[in-house]
This record gives sequence, C-alpha cells and structure tokens, in this order.
Amino acid sequence: MIRLLSLKSGLRSYYILTYGCQMNVYDTDRMAGLMEKSGYSQAGSPEDADILIFNTCSVRENAESRVLNKLAQYVHIKEKNKNFIIGVCGCMAKKDGRRLVGSGFSIDFAVSPDNIAVLPSVIEEVYRGRKAVSVSDDTDDAGEFNALRVSSSDSIRSYIPVMKGCDNYCSYCVVPYVRGREVSRSLESVLAEARMNAEAGIKELFLLGQNVNSYRGGHPGGEADFSDLLRHLNEVPGIERIRFTTSHPKDISLKLIEHVAGLEKVCEYIHLPLQSGSDRILALMNRKYSMARFRETVESIREKINDVAVTTDIIVGYPSETEDDFRLTLDAIRDLMFDTAYMFAYSKREGTAAAATPELISPAEKSKRLSVLIEAQNSVSAMINASLVGKTLEVLAERENVKTPGQLMGRTRGNKMAVFPACGAVPGEIVRVAVKSANQATLYG
Ligand code: SAH
Ligand code: SF4
Ligand code: F3S
Repeated sequence: MIRLLSLKSGLRSYYILTYGCQMNVYDTDRMAGLMEKSGYSQAGSPEDADILIFNTCSVRENAESRVLNKLAQYVHIKEKNKNFIIGVCGCMAKKDGRRLVGSGFSIDFAVSPDNIAVLPSVIEEVYRGRKAVSVSDDTDDAGEFNALRVSSSDSIRSYIPVMKGCDNYCSYCVVPYVRGREVSRSLESVLAEARMNAEAGIKELFLLGQNVNSYRGGHPGGEADFSDLLRHLNEVPGIERIRFTTSHPKDISLKLIEHVAGLEKVCEYIHLPLQSGSDRILALMNRKYSMARFRETVESIREKINDVAVTTDIIVGYPSETEDDFRLTLDAIRDLMFDTAYMFAYSKREGTAAAATPELISPAEKSKRLSVLIEAQNSVSAMINASLVGKTLEVLAERENVKTPGQLMGRTRGNKMAVFPACGAVPGEIVRVAVKSANQATLYG
C-alpha cells in the first residue's frame, strides 16, 4: 500500500512518501505536523521538495524493495540540486537506518518511529553538513506519543493509535523488533484526541494497535482495558462510528465481543488474523491458539454480534508448510467464510525466529499456493457480498466517485466499499443504501 501525502510549497519544503500500515499513515501525519511547526512547508510533489522523506515498512521483503527502487529514482535529483536531501523514517529506518545512511543511495538521514520528535533537529544537522541517524531505543518519546493531534490527511476518518509496539514475537514477524515493546496511551489521551477529532468534523475513529486486546490505559480511577476504552469513546459527541484493528485471536475476550455487540457506535467488524489453518504451523508460528479455539472464537463472535463482518490475514509457504498443512488453510478459508482476507507469501525476515529454519518451499510453489488461496477467498467474498443484495445497509459517505460523477463511495459498518448515486448526500453523511448488485470487493446501491 502506498499513499502520497500531497504537500504545498514554501521556503524549504518537504514531501513524505508513505508505505506500510495505518500506523505509518498516522506517523506521516505526526511528521507533517512537526515539520510545519518547525517552519517547513509542504511541497506539491517529491520532485518539487527540498526534503524527501520515505516513511517505510519492513514487514515483507517486497515492501522494502519497493522503497529501495523508489529511492534509486530520486538520487539523481541530488546531483542537480545540492540542497535536495533524502531521509528514511519508519520501520526500515529502525531496522537498517545506519546501514542505509552509509550506503550508495545517498540517504542523508534516518529517524526511527520512536524518535519522530527529533526529526526537525536531525534535518537541521543535515543542513549543517552532517549525515544524521536517530534510531536508538533510549529516546523517551512518551510526550510525543501522547501528544494530541487531529487528522490532517482525511476529513472523515481519523486513525488513533491506542498503543504501540508488540510483545507477541510471532516467529515470522519483524514488528516487535522495529516497533519495540507494547506501550499503551492513557485513557485520557485517547479520549482527548477523539474529542479534538470530533470537533474538527471527523465522523469515524479507527483505533490502531498491533494487538488492541492488550491495551491497558492508566487513568486516575485505575486502569482501563480496551473494552472500557470503547465504552468511553462511544460517548464522544459527533463521532458516529468506531472501529479497530488488530485483535490477536489468543487474547480476544468475551467482554470485548459483548462491548462490540452492545455499543451502538462500535462497528460490527472484527479483524482476526488466523495466519494458518494447521495446528502444527500455528505452533511453529508461536501464535498460541489452535484451529479449534479459533473456530470457537469466530462462532462466539457471530453468535453475539448481529451482521458482523470477520476478516483475517493468512501467510502461505511458512518454512516447512506441507501440502497437507496448506490444504488445512484452504479448508479453513472455505468453511470459516471470512468477509475478506489479506493473504501473503511468507517472506523471511532476518533476526526473527523463523529465519533460522531452512526454506524448503520454492518461490514458485509459494505463489501457486497463494493464487489457489486467493481464488478460494474471492469466491467466498463474492458469495457473502451476493447475499447482501436486496438489503439496505448503513454507509458513511466518504468521497465522490471520480469514475462516475454523481456517485458517492463509502463504507458499510462491516467495512465493505459501497458505490451509490449521491441523491443529494455529501461526504461525511451517513446514508441508507439499498444494495442492488455486488462483486467480491464492492457493493453497488
Ligand atoms: N499485529 C497484526 C499484524 C501485523 S503485520 C497481527 O498480529 O495480526 C500484518 C500481517 O502481515 C500479519 O498478520 C501477517 O499475516 C503478515 N506478515 C507478517 N510478517 C510476515 C512475513 N514475514 N511474511 C509474510 N507475511 C507476514
Ligand atoms: Fe507481528 Fe504477531 Fe505482533 Fe502481529 S502479533 S505484530 S503478527 S508479532
Ligand atoms: Fe510495516 Fe512497520 Fe507497519 S513493518 S506493517 S510499517 S509496523
């Protein structure tokens, strides 16, 4: 996923290219805010900027190679314009910042996600003639992490991290190494940010955390868990919808399921990454649940939350995944009937536990398994969406459909994209849409 934050020009200007997850989208907003505060202005394109910042992702090798290819495209600008500087932020900065700054890519600085507060001073240092790296763990960024901000890149939905980091150490995953240990924001800080966003006209809060179930937010009355946080957020005037990601299947509680079912603003949408349908692979992945327990969790979610959408993530080709293991994943996709699934081929990440296991599955075999799985999930998604034809669903209108004037696009409470005639409605409004047709990805009303 790549998002370009389009920025206007000024005295010294910057442009941020964003890769990776919503956490990075939020961090791009934070960086843009800090740059503005320090007197930099937004450029209209990477070519027009004096400072080009890559906000990067390390989750899979292809996420990194996309950044490296793009970096190579901009290095020539440095030859023509000596004032043009390039920096790497985000997860690649944490993982490889020192190496990248010393590489042939002509990168001038690297700042890791926990060190965003020092971005402007790092840039000043570069203008004083020194390459600069700030990727150490010893920076105390609690103040910056808890600082309040209003989304500047979206006027309808705002991402709010409720926690950062991850303590789960799934064997394949680089996130605990690049994002550090779990730290929750205080209940007050999240609530205050929600209120600020509501006052700025934001309608939907999208709460972020690698595992929101382990949220523990301090407040004067003690400690709030994630369900308590949802209960408080549900009372914020002006906010119409609340959703969140991600719930780790090992930690999702009955209390949380009941809160999603009972709180009217909390959308009926649960992202529950399964990763594999084979108990053997799940154990190797250090996921700490079995297929049977996952199945019970999904049953309980569907029993308690009416019209809930359940989505998942799957990895195929984990080292030592056999044809039989893969078949169990395929069976799981066919019978658990997820609304959608994000499916990935395993990518070896140096430093993770799985990296020590020899990879016996060829890239061709991995892509074959991935295509078979995608095809199976596409037919499940198409079947589920077809069952919505004839129903009337609540949609939050987000934007005009550029392809067809007069039409709006928005998401249902289950996070499905819907396209429908505006009939006088404007982005930001909640409308009722009668679904006339559907495919695996979109509902048409
Ligand atoms: N914290 C979230 C997800 C973080 S990364 C969670 O636990 O669900 C998003 C997804 O990327 C993961 O769910 C996983 O499916 C995938 N992923 C992570 N590391 C990967 C790797 N090394 N190779 C392939 N996919 C990976
Ligand atoms: Fe990675 Fe597992 Fe943490 Fe998710 S829970 S971020 S997959 S280590
Ligand atoms: Fe990627 Fe870092 Fe997010 S590795 S998925 S940008 S936490």
